[in-house]
Amino acid sequence: MKTPARIALFASGNGSNAEVVINYFKNRDSLKVVLLLSNNPQALALEKASRLGIEAKCFSKDEFREPENIIATLHQRKITHIVLAGFLLQIPAQLIKVFPSAILNIHPSLLPKFGGKGMYGLKVHEAVRQAGETETGITIHEVNEQYDEGRIVFQATCPVLTTDLPADIAQKVQRLEHENFPIVIEQWITGYSNQALTQHSH
Ligand code: GRF
Repeated sequence: MKTPARIALFASGNGSNAEVVINYFKNRDSLKVVLLLSNNPQALALEKASRLGIEAKCFSKDEFREPENIIATLHQRKITHIVLAGFLLQIPAQLIKVFPSAILNIHPSLLPKFGGKGMYGLKVHEAVRQAGETETGITIHEVNEQYDEGRIVFQATCPVLTTDLPADIAQKVQRLEHENFPIVIEQWITGYSNQALTQHSH
């Protein structure tokens, strides 16, 4: 048996994905969420993690930019993988070097469409609607130095109706996220092939 994977979640906001992931992996020995880090002291994600018995810590924007303290914390907790669940800051190259191919992000569109700087939250769904797209979805990808451009691990789609408002699209996309994110994290860490992952696509 390989050494257990120890996951740190990074979250800036509401933390609904973080919550789903924490719950999915509780009571597992081989895969554990052991830490949640945020850059936002008001993030509901911090509260949710603490309530679920996960250590939750906040670091400043500067500490995320020059991440020595964060790297030390991750090493102390023997973190093997980082999962971004609604994390709004760019991950610095220094952190990517310490966790090569071991940082995963979820984005609420079908990348490369509607990605990049400033594309987050309802702005993504508004842009999808403006562009007259008939479908959208989620992308789960590894993180490199460019926003939203690392290797795509998984995508799933949902229809966009002409009557859909951004909030309607957000709801469908969030459902896809919650259904798929924990399973994809598990398969990414345990080394399933991309072929196996795409079978969960809708
Ligand atoms: C999700 O839509 C995710 O794709 C994006 O940020 C959002 C986080 O939502 N990266 P929540 O905080 O997990 O509710």
